[in-house]
Amino acid sequence: MKTGTRIIGVSGKGGVGKTSFLALMLKAFLEKNAHHDILVVDADPDSNMPDVLGVNVAENIGLVVNELKEKIDKLPPNFGKAEYLEYRVFDVLYEGDKFDLLVMGAPEREGCYCLVNNLLMKIMDTLTKNYTLVLMDLPAGLEHVSRRTSANVDVMFLIADPSKMGVKTAARIRDLAKALHREFKKIFLVINKVSPGTEEILREQSMEFGLEYAGSIPFDERLAEFNLKGIPLLELPEDSPSYIAVKKIIEKTLPI
Ligand SMILES: Nc1ncnc2c1ncn2[C@@H]1O[C@H](COP(=O)(O)OP(=O)(O)OP(=O)(O)O)[C@@H](O)[C@H]1O
Ligand SMILES: [Mg+2]
Repeated sequence: MKTGTRIIGVSGKGGVGKTSFLALMLKAFLEKNAHHDILVVDADPDSNMPDVLGVNVAENIGLVVNELKEKIDKLPPNFGKAEYLEYRVFDVLYEGDKFDLLVMGAPEREGCYCLVNNLLMKIMDTLTKNYTLVLMDLPAGLEHVSRRTSANVDVMFLIADPSKMGVKTAARIRDLAKALHREFKKIFLVINKVSPGTEEILREQSMEFGLEYAGSIPFDERLAEFNLKGIPLLELPEDSPSYIAVKKIIEKTLPI
């Protein structure tokens, strides 16, 4: 078991650049070659992390969990549900040379299947302890906070678009987390798709909302082109402005 697993979450409203930021953050960690064991968790039901990272993943946790829920009443009482679920979770886990990836898929069906949900939480807790770094791409909006998807996150990056409304939305996510007693150790604001000359205003706004400003990422034609064509972002050239900006943010906020 690894000691000191650090769980990093990426959150923000739809389309602000959460997935792109996470992919570039992973690229930065891989480039540092700091011997981290890295797990990427795609917790967005509308999963696209495999494409962005250029890996093939056929199954997801949602499918596995629903499958178990469907047959749980028909299973013999002595059937090892925890063992079965654990075995299936490891089946779904993509294990690569440089990082592993777990795709969570669609959230659970209606109704409380507390047993299965609790089993899954326990398995996830155990699984994440095998890594030194866990990078979580969270679903857009606030729901992950109340659903506990982001329960164990240590460092949360709130990604916002370059507008006062964007900064305000990020502050709302922070406030909801606080109201639900979800205490992330650190919360950082990152503004994405910033045009030249606007950073000072955005920095002031983040101060106004009491958010710690980690930096900004410029609008990057090359990143947009890679996503447009479906080229994995891990292949983005190292001199790309968005990648340079993400590296700077990581160095400032998550020194190794
Ligand atoms: N810095 C940037 N420069 C140019 N385009 C960007 C930048 N960041 C993100 N984009 C573009 O914005 C779009 C949304 O990005 P991305 O998928 O990373 O956002 P998201 O927050 O994960 O979205 P969703 O909420 O749908 O999961 C993509 O088309 C991406 O190419
Ligand atoms: Mg996304």
